Amino acid sequence: MRSILHRVARALGSDARITVMTGAGVSAASGVPTFRGADGLWKDFRVDDLATPQAFTRNPRAVWEWYDWRRQAIAGCQPNAAHHVLASWSLRFPRFTLITQNVDGLHERAGASDVLRLHGSIWDVGCWNQCAGSPHRWRDDSVPFPVLPPSCPHCGGPLRPGVVWFGELLDSEVVDRSLDATRCDVFFTVGTSAIVYPAAGFLDHARSHGAMTVEINPEATPASSTVDVVVPERAELALPELDATLGAHPLALTTERLRLEPLLPRHVEAAHQLWTHPEVRRYLWDDRIIPRETAEEVARASAADFARHRFGLWLVYGHEESGMPVGFCGLRTDGVGPGPELLFGLYPTYWGRGFAQEASRAVLAHAFTTLRLPRVTAATDAPNERSARTLSAIGMRFDRRAEHNGLDTLFYSIDMGR
Ligand code: OAD
Repeated sequence: MRSILHRVARALGSDARITVMTGAGVSAASGVPTFRGADGLWKDFRVDDLATPQAFTRNPRAVWEWYDWRRQAIAGCQPNAAHHVLASWSLRFPRFTLITQNVDGLHERAGASDVLRLHGSIWDVGCWNQCAGSPHRWRDDSVPFPVLPPSCPHCGGPLRPGVVWFGELLDSEVVDRSLDATRCDVFFTVGTSAIVYPAAGFLDHARSHGAMTVEINPEATPASSTVDVVVPERAELALPELDATLGAHPLALTTERLRLEPLLPRHVEAAHQLWTHPEVRRYLWDDRIIPRETAEEVARASAADFARHRFGLWLVYGHEESGMPVGFCGLRTDGVGPGPELLFGLYPTYWGRGFAQEASRAVLAHAFTTLRLPRVTAATDAPNERSARTLSAIGMRFDRRAEHNGLDTLFYSIDMGR
């Protein structure tokens, strides 16, 4: 297994064009059932009763009961290690495309941006009558819906789930962009039975364009005999192992005085040391912002946060010269906010200083331009005038106050385009 992964890792240079197509197997470890196989959904339910336009015409309530049940189940699931690795690759590799047949939204919740969703999203709805007043699709996170079928806010007719049913056309822009992404150096097919077209055909396209083709799936599929490399392992184990084999490819953002880079073990140590640094602690006590015991707790909590990887990707920003971290940011995946959020904070000792604003601006610019995130959240658990000033100076607005890690925390946010 290790030698197989090394072979794949060698092909994953930082300028390689990489395309990954996923299926239900990638969410299996999160508790989302697959469609086929012993425990698959299609064992207990019939496609013709639930996943076709005809089924909806016959009995919209029965179809919605199934989707509402699945939405409730998925809402309680968390992204797993496979989602996290793919989300970090979407940031690490500049020419990376993630295509998914899944409708569960777990890739996005892990922090992946710009996912090509071939089969739509279970979190989207649309007007069944396609009334003139409503957009084609929009997101509605209601779980459960109070009335089934839910009704269109524009015309009062029934809403439909925003997934693609059997017999329906796929979004042509998504298909075109997926086909374009098959012109790649490495094409992965992960956790899919590789029998539903057109998705199953992308592998052939990639091969015909000269890509190295890799399948990650514990079971053999029709694709297994045609790919260059078979990794017969579960995605949540194989992808982290492959990722570890890749080693650190620093994704660095350097401004005049700051550097953003992926969290490395030395940063965990550095962050911990900073929190327990006598000067920081003196500052904390002198300002009476948080008492000594709390400072120690925070030190432990942030080190534990880092260590547990509750965030899709951590970046620590620090001085170019001293290498001391001045703050951190990470893609949140643990449900504090809706969808992927870049959360960033500054160590309290730096609030109000000139480079706190410079750091924050750099992070925001990075989030909006490179990571293409629609929304950025800042959290401070040392709320004071200086932190409020720094955040409002860069255009962030107070959002909410909530307990986080046992600390009274203020959240600020900014949306793209505001
Ligand atoms: P399937 O249920 O057909 O296949 C899931 C695949 O995941 C199987 O090949 C399993 O061996 C594999 N698998 C299971 N656990 C895994 C794990 N931990 N890691 C990696 N692989 C694992 O699901 P899809 O191929 O996604 O369409 O199905 C394709 C489409 O058929 C779905 O999008 C859906 C369905 O009907 C629509 O709803 C339109």
